[in-house]
Amino acid sequence: MIKLIDTHAHYDDEAYDGDRDLLLKRLFDESVEKLITVGCALNRWEDTVRLSESYEGIYGAVGIHPEDIYGLPDDYLAQIENLAKKPKIVAIGEMGLDYHYENYDKEKQIEVFIEQLRLADKLNMPVIIHSRDAAEDTMRILRAEKPKKAVMHCFSCSREIAAEVLSLGLYISFTGVLTFKNAKKAVEACELAPLDRLMLETDCPYMAPVPFRGERCESSMIMSTAAKMAEIKGVSTEEMIKICNRNAETFFGI
Ligand code: NI
Repeated sequence: MIKLIDTHAHYDDEAYDGDRDLLLKRLFDESVEKLITVGCALNRWEDTVRLSESYEGIYGAVGIHPEDIYGLPDDYLAQIENLAKKPKIVAIGEMGLDYHYENYDKEKQIEVFIEQLRLADKLNMPVIIHSRDAAEDTMRILRAEKPKKAVMHCFSCSREIAAEVLSLGLYISFTGVLTFKNAKKAVEACELAPLDRLMLETDCPYMAPVPFRGERCESSMIMSTAAKMAEIKGVSTEEMIKICNRNAETFFGI
């Protein structure tokens, strides 16, 4: 059976503290070819680097998630730049805007997002974007900054936003959300996206697809999301995985 690439996972998460190495070994033995583990905050990057250097199939992304912008040291960009020199660190992110929870610092989120976009541009590295309940500001910034190589991760925005994201040259990546009953918007966005701009991800340990919803998510569960995406795009699941693997390899240079 074809092995898959998970373009967005969080294997540094404490949800895996009990069995991380056993799980990763099983995944690589059975169903996973490569994965990107995403370090969202300053105190996570050491784990990101360690994981990527411990497993041939693991690559890393380092960045500041919009919920982790508080108390950043002045040299955080220099720290990202330094880590980005490591051969297994292949992207900057996740970064972006998240207005979901109350009392967020909008100005600071925007500042940290733009700073990271400009750093990635300078380093010529791909960018992973997180946007939740903040589509309007995200699009305004993307229009102005024009990132050369970016993916909108865990896509769940409208068809209209998808159209604009695609017209700016971005990729769109889907999690298990695509399989949820109420995922009408994600399905419509997926319908719209050309095959060469789609990617698959878990965002594990979160977002487990149906029929695993509510369980701890892991990369092998991408099969369910791939099957749903294949149904939407009218290709076989194996073909869908092949296409998304190729896109991921091109996008991340892995
Ligand atoms: Ni994530």
